[in-house]
Amino acid sequence: MVGRSSFLIVANRLPVDRNVEQDGTASWRRSPGGLVTAIAPVMQRRHGAWLGWHGAADEELEPFEQDGMSLIPVPLSATEVELYYEGFSNATLWPLYHDVVAPPVFERPMWETYRAVNERFANAAAEAAEEGAVVWVQDYQLQLVPAMLRKLRPDLRIGFFLHIPFPPVELFWRLPWRRELVEGLLGADLVGFQLPGGAANFRRLCRRLLGVPYKGNEIFLEDRVVTTQAFPISVDFGELDSMVREPQVISRAKEIRMELGDPEHVLLGVDRLDYTKGIGQRLEAFGELLKEGRIGPGEAVFVQIATPSRERVDEYRRLRDDIELQVGRINGENSVLGNQPIQYFHQSYGKQELAALYLAADVMLVTPLRDGMNLVAKEYVSCHHDLHGALVLSEFAGAADELRQSFLVNPYDVEDVKRQMLTAMRATPHELARRMRTMRRRVATYDVDRWASEFLTALETPASAPATSHSA
Ligand code: ADP
Ligand code: F6P
Repeated sequence: MVGRSSFLIVANRLPVDRNVEQDGTASWRRSPGGLVTAIAPVMQRRHGAWLGWHGAADEELEPFEQDGMSLIPVPLSATEVELYYEGFSNATLWPLYHDVVAPPVFERPMWETYRAVNERFANAAAEAAEEGAVVWVQDYQLQLVPAMLRKLRPDLRIGFFLHIPFPPVELFWRLPWRRELVEGLLGADLVGFQLPGGAANFRRLCRRLLGVPYKGNEIFLEDRVVTTQAFPISVDFGELDSMVREPQVISRAKEIRMELGDPEHVLLGVDRLDYTKGIGQRLEAFGELLKEGRIGPGEAVFVQIATPSRERVDEYRRLRDDIELQVGRINGENSVLGNQPIQYFHQSYGKQELAALYLAADVMLVTPLRDGMNLVAKEYVSCHHDLHGALVLSEFAGAADELRQSFLVNPYDVEDVKRQMLTAMRATPHELARRMRTMRRRVATYDVDRWASEFLTALETPASAPATSHSA
């Protein structure tokens, strides 16, 4: 057992993936995903501990050190992976919180397992935290942990951050276990959301469901105050900005363009293969532009990177089949010898390769149907100190609140996506530079450090007095 820590991150996953070489030797390496990308640098600087599942079922591991972080694995059985992770987290909460773009599944065994696993995380955190420690719980998989942990350790300062959208009251209301989830979150001192709208949805829900009053950002419980606030997450701007200045990344970007046949326009999509990301909608728009002859043969190549994700959840399986069929159909109808308009990769990449892809892309397509933030959009902007490059961005991504100079689209409106794709491709260098400069200023200022430090400062600042003196 590692010593107790004064700063703890509690997340569904540890920030590392196990990599097994051909000769059987295993090692850990930093995993992809918005959450990890955002918090790992902060953890390293604060020398904290990170509690989470290590990604394999039915295996207990001892705490270990990696990348300057103390990692405390929380085990999950195969049944728990199925019911808590694939089930309640990703077949119930994920679609419910993302505007029900897929139908959520409501099944009692999933809920019961979710509760039991949350209890295990809370117990492990209670054991690992020093007296008076700061504990920062992450995301929708662990919404019951704040209240469970407070019960065990009232001395702790507990923060919670939701990385995905918090839905409107009318949608949340469908959840058979709505009361338990809200009470779980109210165990925190500070509940953070990506956007002010999510925080407002949560406060309204608390009043309607539990009758608790709020004023401004604060919810007044009988014995304490819970602060709710928006903290839009961001990326490590400095790291990406220097990475794309490295000679090997620059030459890799050139090589990528050559390998693609040196088209006039390289369009890029980088997403987890998730039905919220609007991959099908953007493929449809691109396919129609080709078919209508508005993009000429060989004029543009669209590279779609689709990271494998949640592959045992039914909706994700169906999505993969649909997308791969669609890619095949569009390529079949529009390819000429030696040139396929869509290059599709169902793979994960290292940071440098991703940075080279961003640098190589003239147009970045980020068109989710709903997304808490979308870090890919901010990563693309961070990689374009050349002020070249156009970002086509969905109005339904949290990032659209900040990146107003992108080419904003409604992904449900295929004509709008087509129009904005073409406008982005045809924009003058001057126009692109004007837009990119403003977006870069925003991401450089509100980077991931600022996100984490604003959250932690708010968490460490006591709220107003609780009380009875406040009314709704
Ligand atoms: P989400 O959190 O829903 O996955 P985000 O866009 O917020 O979506 O974050 C995705 C993160 O995963 C980004 O940091 C991105 O660079 C990384 N990523 C996406 N696709 C890949 C890939 N194929 N290989 C490696 N990293 C990836
Ligand atoms: O951003 C939402 C999120 O679910 C994170 O919690 C997680 O790190 C990332 O997406 C990847 O998802 P998963 O852990 O299910 O592969």
